[in-house]
Amino acid sequence: MSSIVIPVEPFDLVIFGGTGDLSMRKLLPALYRRDADGQIPPPARIIGLARADQTTDDFRQEAREALQKHIPAQELQAEALERFIKRLAYLHNDVTHPEGWGDLVALLNEQPNHIRVYYLAVSPSLFGVIANGLAKVGLSNGQSRLVVEKPLGHDLASARKLNQAIGAVFDESRIYRIDHYLGKETVQNLMALRFANALFEPIWNAHCVDHVQITAAESLGVGSRGEYYDKAGAVRDMVQNHLIQLLCLIAMEPPYTFNADAVRDEKLKVLRSLRPLQGRAVLANTVRGQYQASHDSPSYVQEAGNPDSRTECYVAIKAEIDNWRWSGVPFYLRTGKKLRAQMTEIAIVFKEPTHSVFGEIETPMMPNVLSIRLQPDEGLRLNIMTKDPGPGGFRLRDIPLDMTFAEGRAANWRMPDAYERLIMDVVRGNQTLFMRGDEVEAAWAWIDPIIAAWDASGTRPDHYEPGSRGPIASVEMMALDGRRWREIEAKEHD
Ligand code: BG6
Repeated sequence: MSSIVIPVEPFDLVIFGGTGDLSMRKLLPALYRRDADGQIPPPARIIGLARADQTTDDFRQEAREALQKHIPAQELQAEALERFIKRLAYLHNDVTHPEGWGDLVALLNEQPNHIRVYYLAVSPSLFGVIANGLAKVGLSNGQSRLVVEKPLGHDLASARKLNQAIGAVFDESRIYRIDHYLGKETVQNLMALRFANALFEPIWNAHCVDHVQITAAESLGVGSRGEYYDKAGAVRDMVQNHLIQLLCLIAMEPPYTFNADAVRDEKLKVLRSLRPLQGRAVLANTVRGQYQASHDSPSYVQEAGNPDSRTECYVAIKAEIDNWRWSGVPFYLRTGKKLRAQMTEIAIVFKEPTHSVFGEIETPMMPNVLSIRLQPDEGLRLNIMTKDPGPGGFRLRDIPLDMTFAEGRAANWRMPDAYERLIMDVVRGNQTLFMRGDEVEAAWAWIDPIIAAWDASGTRPDHYEPGSRGPIASVEMMALDGRRWREIEAKEHD
């Protein structure tokens, strides 16, 4: 198995906030890797733009250090690195000053035929300002694309405002809203699994599926991001975007074709069929948590620098989809910081056989589970019941049919980072893996009443031990339904 590299058209990528964390930690490493693989054509340029008064040489030096830090040494080839560094240019520009745009215009107009990508790695409060700035100096023409990333609002009203601000300059077909989960290899595999195999479609519904669990557990705390995080919380940071997007991909109807609007139309229908959670239903169907301190690590509220914080860094939600396919099948979502292990997984738990022909046997029947692991240990696993070989009576055993993606690959094969695929998709003009404005708004419309009910209740998040499975109340929420969460573990049991 090997990858096939299809070069993209020449482009100029302008990173607003080019010296920031996202640029240095994710965007430049992803671009370097695509370049090293030969996907980026020679004339393409990457322009970092920020307020700092520094030169291209300074920016190149900063980028070089970032690449050395974020890419393993064996992947950094000297020749490829030098070629990549030469593509970089830096412009200092305070985007709030109208007179600061001249240098960018001059630089981009050197290559009038290049595709132009404007990546806004800045605070959302600047999205509208930058879109307008680009329009005023004539840089928002048909060959240009705008890339934005979360937080795309903190509620429905602010998300609408953002959509309007950028939509006034760029039409929807040129706006790329990144949710990096959609660029993960396994998430795309989920679509292959569902729509390239006849096997699953007949059982992908309420007749055969008992429930679905979507877990994004992290072992790290909020660390130095406490200040940002405390204004957001797990539901805004992870559920409104990543987890809901995963839910949509699991639950959506097959699109008539694999193109951007066909896929996004189907996801939107799922969002609109989510049963609203309001008032008391919110308290019954959600659990919030905050990790406590341990002997050697601070608590959530300490890291957030806010002793009175009611912000959740763990959340579990029981969601229901009111449509024909999923009626009565709960989708349990949970995410949290400082849990037992890092694990992101979707588990489709099937119903048990309606009748046991084996009568009374020692070994219990286990439901079939299809687990889709996003990280670590990416792959698919289908648990089925088999007869335990050998004598000793008729014993059943739960065996996984395992497809770990890394297996069977060359030793130096690596799983591409989500940003590699997503940035190249922007250049190619393919929006399939990006969120449309109406999807973002529909997700907020479902989330807003949940946050409102928490606020109105005056209750606080439960505490949980760092390194644990989260608050006890989340186990109880499942137990009330006669179900259990899947284990949070870095590697699945053999
Ligand atoms: C980000 C959140 O969007 O996703 C972070 O802001 C979270 O809080 C991260 O840690 C998780 O991403 P991944 O790819 O590591 O699962």
